[in-house]
Amino acid sequence: MPHSLFLKDIQTRTNELLIKWLPNEQQTPTRLHQAMRYSALNPGKRIRPALVFATGEMLSANTEVLERAAVAVELIHAYSLIHDDLPCMDDDDLRRGIPTCHIKFDEATAVLAGDALQTLAFEVLSAPYVAELSDYKQLQMLRSLCHASGSLGMGGGQAIDLFMTNKASDLATLESMHRMKTGALISASVKLGFLASDCEDQVIATQLDMYSQSLGLAFQIKDDILDIESDTETLGKPQGSDINKNKLTFPALLGLDGAKKRATELVERALDALERIPLNSEKLSDFAQFIVNRHH
Ligand code: IPE
Ligand code: IPE
Ligand code: MG
Ligand code: MG
Ligand code: MG
Repeated sequence: MPHSLFLKDIQTRTNELLIKWLPNEQQTPTRLHQAMRYSALNPGKRIRPALVFATGEMLSANTEVLERAAVAVELIHAYSLIHDDLPCMDDDDLRRGIPTCHIKFDEATAVLAGDALQTLAFEVLSAPYVAELSDYKQLQMLRSLCHASGSLGMGGGQAIDLFMTNKASDLATLESMHRMKTGALISASVKLGFLASDCEDQVIATQLDMYSQSLGLAFQIKDDILDIESDTETLGKPQGSDINKNKLTFPALLGLDGAKKRATELVERALDALERIPLNSEKLSDFAQFIVNRHH
């Protein structure tokens, strides 16, 4: 199935699942719940759930387990975007084509909505399953998402991003920042798909890690490129935000052509890793191409 149809299906499924797991707007505190639903339900690309499903379905994982993992990782992502847009971070006022959470509501509500989405993610992953899933597996899944979200993953990458703003740097620092702030959650999505299955093949686990790490870095490089080459309407977020804030990005360090070359090399590396897996990984390879060819 071409990635666009697959992604559309995932978007519908993810929205239905999020609607089910997010607290009702009528429930007190209503304003906080409105803010959580506002940010999480506004349609994003749902790339992380798509990676959970594409990996897990390739390995015949249980659907309920995959659905939980997909919701959890998207909730962490939604939280990271709310906080990323705050005045104390990137100070952006548009996200997915509508006002950011702190503009629509207020800063305190946006901080709390982010916090609550994060903890909801772990509640979703730790709740009992109808499906058979060992306690050990469930804990492994929780631990993977915790690690990817925390100070050695997304949160830490965001700290480095802020610290490096307005500073000269080198490629190694930039690459490790991108791997942490964006790569970690993308890798965790693939890892959760793997853990949701019964597969214990270490060759497959290693190659999937290589695939997802290359893909994660390529994804943030493309995000940096789009900040220059796209426009606000297509992006649904303010074009030029990185340049205005003098952010450390791949185009800033390598130039646009250098950044594009690096993203293409990483996608090649991701595809090479998939070739070493004796399974039909077409969705994952389609995905790798989509990451660098996307327009938003
Ligand atoms: C944007 O992520 C933030 C980054 C980590 C680069 P996405 O490009 O996946 O954003 P949505 O979810 O589609 O809005
Ligand atoms: C954000 O990177 C990464 C996150 C962990 C949210 P950016 O700051 O480049 O993301 P956008 O461009 O605002 O979506
Ligand atoms: Mg940022
Ligand atoms: Mg930002
Ligand atoms: Mg960006």
